[in-house]
Amino acid sequence: MSRISRQISLPFIRIDRRDARPVYEQLYEGMREAILNGRLQPNDRLPATRLIAEELGVSRNIVVIAFEQLLMEGYIRSKAGAGSFVEAMDAIPPAPRAGRRPLPGRRVEGEFVRRLNEVVLQRNIDREETAPFQTSQPAFDAFPFAVWSKLAARVYRYLDFQHLGYEDAAGALPLREAIADHLRVNRGVECDASRILIVNGTQQALFLAAQLLLQPGDQFWIDDPGYVNARFTFLLHGGVACPIPVTGEGTDIDYACQRYPNARLAYLTPSHQHPVGGTLPLAQRLKLLAWARDRRLWIIEDDYDSELRYRGKPIPALQGLDAHGNVIYIGTFSKVLFPALRVAYMVLPDQAVFQSFRSLKALNDRQSAIVDQLILTDFIKEGYFHRHLRKMRSIYSARLQCLLEELETHLSEYLSFTDPAAGMHLAVYFKRPVDEDRLLQAAADKGLILLSLREYTIGACRRPGILLGYSSFPEDKIRQAVRTLKSIFSSLHPLPKIS
Ligand SMILES: Cc1ncc(COP(=O)(O)O)c(C=O)c1O
Repeated sequence: MSRISRQISLPFIRIDRRDARPVYEQLYEGMREAILNGRLQPNDRLPATRLIAEELGVSRNIVVIAFEQLLMEGYIRSKAGAGSFVEAMDAIPPAPRAGRRPLPGRRVEGEFVRRLNEVVLQRNIDREETAPFQTSQPAFDAFPFAVWSKLAARVYRYLDFQHLGYEDAAGALPLREAIADHLRVNRGVECDASRILIVNGTQQALFLAAQLLLQPGDQFWIDDPGYVNARFTFLLHGGVACPIPVTGEGTDIDYACQRYPNARLAYLTPSHQHPVGGTLPLAQRLKLLAWARDRRLWIIEDDYDSELRYRGKPIPALQGLDAHGNVIYIGTFSKVLFPALRVAYMVLPDQAVFQSFRSLKALNDRQSAIVDQLILTDFIKEGYFHRHLRKMRSIYSARLQCLLEELETHLSEYLSFTDPAAGMHLAVYFKRPVDEDRLLQAAADKGLILLSLREYTIGACRRPGILLGYSSFPEDKIRQAVRTLKSIFSSLHPLPKIS
């Protein structure tokens, strides 16, 4: 029954010293391959490890390690005193000879996947580049990494082992308390830690909200232009988008109420409309809240960058005016710290709603990673967060001023804009018709990243333009980039002015 005797060698095993893989791995893979492709047959007896070692000119230990791995994975078995044998065939799945071929008809499919394929945004999947005028990028070089790493070292040094098991799905309580204190004082949010849920970015908050609040076929209000990731998340869950025009003061609430009275959910960025700017005035806020109370409309308030305001005080959140528990508030550290941190939070209106979100979060990913939450807690409690915010406001404000001046000097013939005094990017509008595809391509060729407002729009773009991110570029880079943009505009031979 044993076809490989002590004398038979394994000629198909090759050890290549230039190969980056360790020798035991090469041996293990060579034998595994031979078993899977049938060169070694079930019940074949393998040569003794000492013989293989001699033949290959390697230490016996290396062969033993490879054998142990094969044994552990069930490719071979060993019998005391008799040697090692290839495992019986029915225990080993036969592998295709030339790579993997999926079984016909076996795909990820269904209505949800169809929608996913429709809405997925490639730029959310790929790594984002940093080049002018990339949007949503904080000035990473201004982040106090020395402080952060000092706090991180301290957190690790004194880490209570109880944190290493599964924690409360709602997030670390000290962080939720620190956030509650911050929101009450700085954002006018009515909250305490018991209704705050830590999530992996606004994106997860939107997912949880879509899953809990929307039934397939439910209408949702979404600004047009508006935040694409919110729109796509609600669409993915079967929602029906109701595009609401945006005025200079944000979402047109009157239009929304008249046109889509039966909507179940409204997604808004009232403090700073995304992506074009504007702040929802008090009268509109009160109208919206009264409508939500009467119509049982859920309002998702995405307060993503309201702390980045360069004149006057940040506008208090809509949530603070809501007396009937219709607003779900979302904040994020992606803009004020850095996106890869993936820490955001939701303030839920009451305990019952909070518990539903907390249960869904638990089922979704158990909890957010704990160590960063603990570092962030200290970062906030020890005053570094507010210091950092002040510093970023001053850096971004100077960069915005520089961009406005440069645009005024070099591009006012082609572009119109107003000072938003907030945020991390500027929306600028074309004064003359422009072939946008050519513009974007020419910019990309010259190392500029331009985002068209078309990307944020559901129907035809009423006011065509582009977004210019400035937050992560020092003034000299902004000056240079505006000059490059000017050369692109002048080379595009725009048509006569729009009347
Ligand atoms: C409107 C809006 N909300 C929230 C975010 C932040 O998302 P997250 O917290 O998932 O990083 C962004 C990022 O660009 C945004 O534009």
